[in-house]
This record gives sequence, C-alpha cells and structure tokens, in this order.
Amino acid sequence: MSPSFTEEQRRFLRLLEVPVPGRPAVRESAPPQAALPKVAAAAQPPRQDPAPAAPLPTPTVPLAQPTVPDAPLWDMAAQERRETVIAGLAWADLAAMVSVCQDCPLGATRQHAVFGAGNPQGRWLFVGEAPGAEEDRRGEAFVGRAGQLLDAMLKAMGLERGRDVYIANVLKCRPPNNRDPLGPEVRECLPYLHRQIALIRPQIIVALGRFATQGLLQVDTPLNKLRGTVQHYGDIPVVITYHPAYLLRNPIDKRRVWEDLKKARQVFQEAGGALPEAR
Ligand code: URA
Repeated sequence: MSPSFTEEQRRFLRLLEVPVPGRPAVRESAPPQAALPKVAAAAQPPRQDPAPAAPLPTPTVPLAQPTVPDAPLWDMAAQERRETVIAGLAWADLAAMVSVCQDCPLGATRQHAVFGAGNPQGRWLFVGEAPGAEEDRRGEAFVGRAGQLLDAMLKAMGLERGRDVYIANVLKCRPPNNRDPLGPEVRECLPYLHRQIALIRPQIIVALGRFATQGLLQVDTPLNKLRGTVQHYGDIPVVITYHPAYLLRNPIDKRRVWEDLKKARQVFQEAGGALPEAR
C-alpha cells in the first residue's frame, strides 16, 4: 500500500534528506536551508550579505551517527493507534474489521479474509499459519486437506472443532501461491490474533508449525528446538507441534505429533481442564 503523505510529513522527510515519494529527490548540492520549513527560516536573524561564510571548525570528537528507526516515526505512531483500536474491539467488530482489512497487500489478492473457525467459547485454541486456496474460497479456517487432517487429530484427542476448539491463523488472508508469510504481513495481522486470544481466553494453545509458534512467542528459534517443550503466551500454556500440511508431506512424523498432542492433553488436565477419552 503506498502511503500518502501530509505536507508536514513531506517536510520531515526532506529534513532527513530522505527522498519524498512522488517528488524528485533533493539534490545533494542544495543548501540545507532550502529544505527548512518556512517558519524556521523566518526565525533566522537577517543575513549581513555578502559576507563570505567562515569555514566550519573541524570537530575534535567524531560526531555521533544519528540512529534511524526502521519505520518512519508517524508510521510507528499510526501502528500503535491501530493496535490500540484493535485491542478494544468486541468479537463481532473484530471479525468485521478483518473481513474488510486492506492494511497489507494481501487484501488485494484474497477472495475472503478468514477470521477462524470453531467455537470461540472452546477451551482449546489451535493456531495455524495462513489460509490456503480452499480456505480463501470458502472464508473458513482449515477446510482443505490440512484441515481434514487437523480434524482427525482433534478426533484422536477426543475434541471437536465446533464444540471444544477454536482455530485461528496468524495471517487472515492467503499469501499468493501459498508462499510463506512476510514480516510486514505478520506485523499487520498479529494484533487481530492477539485480540482473538484475549477474547477467547483459551485454557491452552496448540501452535501448528513455525509461523504460529514464532508469531505467538515472538521468537525466531527454530521449530525443532521448541517442539516438545511447553511455552507460555502470557499465562496460557502453548504446546508446539508440526503443521498438518507438513504432516501431509512427511507422514513419518505423525508419531511425533501424537506425542505432542498427548502432552497437550496432559497440560490441559493439569491445569484443571476436563477431557473426554482420547480415541
Ligand atoms: N493452513 C493453515 O495454516 N491455515 C489454514 O486455515 C489452512 C491451511
């Protein structure tokens, strides 16, 4: 999405000597005063022209390099305001905001934003990566082949998606050709998942695959280092396992996933959760 800039933001960019999008770049030879806002220039004392400028003294200590934030300051402020708004939304308003979201380029290529699936009153939250083609077409999470496998996993644990479980993704929109989510997409979309978790208040979260795990825990640790451990999102235990789509390609790892799911049942029970028999 291309940002539109106010005149104030453009002046700020010029002060930083950053090219203003949509304007020719400021030439290096232009005097710095040329970029100053009119107010600042008016505050200068009148010049006694044409006195030649005295050479500037060479600093005896090297000047500190200015630190440049990775996002422009007004973007960071806007981001914070957006997160504050999302963090105050009720479930229906959150779903409505997601359904029309255009805050990253995926909004332009999706068919449907996918808010989630299952029972928001369920005590279990499963978190995946992003909708695939079938989810994008139907607007519901995990309804393709990976979803069928997930349902089988839930059944084996004695759970049902419409009764015990809510399923959400890190990204609400499908990345074209099912490519991996990009950092800025995750950054824009994660506040929706945070709000979903705050409203659901699940007793346990099962993170499916690398993007769910790293997004929830805000780490870049490889999945294999975290699988088999119990982590926490706030005070909610997070059990980590492989993504069902990975399992479709690597069925040999089903045994490991079953170990993880048994661990999840155990953690849930230790936290006081009641469970039907696993099948
Ligand atoms: N994979 C995911 O991570 N989520 C879905 O909803 C479908 C496939």
